[in-house]
Parts: sequence; C-alpha cells; structure tokens
Amino acid sequence: MSGKRSIVMSGIRPTGFLHLGNYFGAVRNYVKMQEEFECFFMVADLHSLTTHPDTKELKLNVQRVLAENVACGLDPDKVALYCQSHVHETAELYLYLNMLAYKGELEKTVTFKDKARQHPDNVNAGLLTYPVLQTADIILHRAIYVPVGKDQEQHLEMARNFVQRFNHRYGEIFPEPNAFNFGEELIKVPSLDGSGKMSKSENQYATLYLSDDDEMIRKKVMKAKTDSGPTEPRTEKPDYIANLFQLMQLVSSADTIQQFEADYDNCRIRYGDMKKQLAEDMVRFIAPIREKAEAIRTDEKYLRELMEKGAEKARKSALATIELVREAIGLNYY
Ligand code: TYM
Repeated sequence: MSGKRSIVMSGIRPTGFLHLGNYFGAVRNYVKMQEEFECFFMVADLHSLTTHPDTKELKLNVQRVLAENVACGLDPDKVALYCQSHVHETAELYLYLNMLAYKGELEKTVTFKDKARQHPDNVNAGLLTYPVLQTADIILHRAIYVPVGKDQEQHLEMARNFVQRFNHRYGEIFPEPNAFNFGEELIKVPSLDGSGKMSKSENQYATLYLSDDDEMIRKKVMKAKTDSGPTEPRTEKPDYIANLFQLMQLVSSADTIQQFEADYDNCRIRYGDMKKQLAEDMVRFIAPIREKAEAIRTDEKYLRELMEKGAEKARKSALATIELVREAIGLNYY
C-alpha cells in the first residue's frame, strides 16, 4: 500500500531555532502531507557544515529542529524523520551527481552568491555544490513533491536539470521533483523590518522564532516598521505595511483581517492597534508550539529513538535507489 503513495521529501538546516518562515514555508505543509503521502523529512546537518564549520552547537541544534518539527505536529510514526548524516548513501549519490553539475551553473546560483557574500573567507566547494547535495537528498527517495518556501525554487529547478542529465546518460531512474505548496504559489514569509524574507541569518529582531517567549514576540511585532498611514482611500500599501498584512493572514482570523483592510482603505487605520492585535494572535499561535518543543527537546532518550527509527526507514529507501544507480552507471563488475 505504501509503495503506491507519492513520495515527498524535504529538509531543514540545523542552524538555529525555527522561525515563522520555516513553519509557513515548509513545516505546515509537512504536517498536512504526512496524512496522504509517503514522507521523508530530515535535518540537513551536512548542509549546515557548508556555512557553520564550528560544530559545538550542532547536536543541540539538531535536537531543537527535531523537537520543533514534532511540536508542530509531525508524527514520527507516520513519516521518516531523520538526520541527513545518518544516511550514507546520500554522500555516494552526491558524488555521482557532482560529475553532472557544471561549475558555471553552480556559480550562478543565487543562494551561492548570497552565502559567498555573507562568508567571504569560507567560499568552499561544499557551498558551491550545495544544490547537488540537495538533489541527492531528494532523489535518493525518488521523491516527486518537495514542500519548500519560495527561496528554494531555483534549487528545485537545478534538481530537475541534474535528474534529466542523469536519466539521459544512464537510463530513466529518477522522476523529476517539484517544489510544492498546498496553496497556489510558494510562500515567502516577510521579515518584520520589511527588508526581504524572514531568515535565521539576517536581522534577528525582524525574525519571529517558534522559541520566542510572549514578551519577545510582542516586542518584535511592536517594533515593526510603519508610517503615519494612508491619506487617500485605497492607496497601494508600501512593502513594510503589506508585510504586516501578510503576517496577519498567517495567524489572525478572517474578520480581524477584513476589519484592518477596511480601516486601511478608509484611511482610518491605527497601526499601533493593528500591531497589538497581530502580536496577540502571534503569541496565541507560537506559545503552544514553544512549550511542546521545550518538553521534547530535553528528552534525549525520545530523540535518540526517534532518530534511529527515522534513519532506519530512510536507509531502506536509500539503499534500494543506490543499488539501481550503481547498476545504471555500470559499477557492477561481478
Ligand atoms: P532552510 O533550512 O533555509 O529552510 C527550511 C525551509 O524553510 C523555508 N523557509 C521559508 N519559507 C517561506 N518564507 C521564509 N521567509 C522562509 N525561510 C525559510 C525554506 O524554503 C525551506 O523549505 N536547502 C534547504 C535545506 C535542504 C532541503 C533538502 C530542502 C537540504 N536538503 C532537500 C528540501 C529538500 C534549506 O536551506 O532550507
């Protein structure tokens, strides 16, 4: 029965606590997809080494990400929830795929250029071939759906290119993977200061973490950039105001949003009230996840068993694929 379900794969780097972008771009979809599909979700610990070579906090961060995934509603009995480094076949497939990836296209990748800018003293080969490793993660399970945020769109496009090249050269082994969101479009959760997406590495005060306490959430939301409000009816919203409405869409009720939309259109909006409402709705959304994650995070035994169980499921699927791959490439001498 499980063999017939479509396969889903995704991952999150353990580079800190999860934030609202990770939740709405990725984890929310994971939780929905676990009911319908055969799912492989992992902590991308190997990917984090490309930018975070110091591993003092790695174990803690891996535990955090696992705990937060479970606290958000992921059920380790329904999905394979595992660590990337526990599935060694990933490294093997990554190596084969590297022969099909060209330096020029890797250098043009937006995330590579961004990270090279952020870490100019550590522009390593792992960073350059980051999308190749990500492709290996995905196609190792022959997944077709990859729930991710908008920032991962280019990586998925590259994954399809690598798959096409592999299939063309060695035979049709892999289906083409696609970025997935239950809505129409991939999501980009904006940062609170209105400057791009919410992220772990940019302005910390503009990022809402699933681990933030109630006061911190209120403080961050109240500090979000606003202005004195529109003076003409139905004025187009500046970016930073549109962002606040977008955040409201994620956590507030339809009535609340409608009321503030109407106030905006009639030039009666009071941003102080809007931010207070948004802060309270955000607290109501984040607090139960934070509390649950805290309890799981400190339960080492539970997490160890979870990782073992996840790795076992993932390895089984990985091994079946890697055997096909070795055979297809011609690495079968006896
Ligand atoms: P990472 O760890 O940066 O982010 C994890 C997930 O969160 C999404 N995300 C966002 N979505 C919407 N708005 C935002 N502001 C926002 N910020 C982050 C990301 O799109 C992602 O879905 N390369 C991946 C990790 C990875 C992976 C994979 C993903 C490794 N192997 C295989 C899918 C399949 C990454 O860096 O995600």
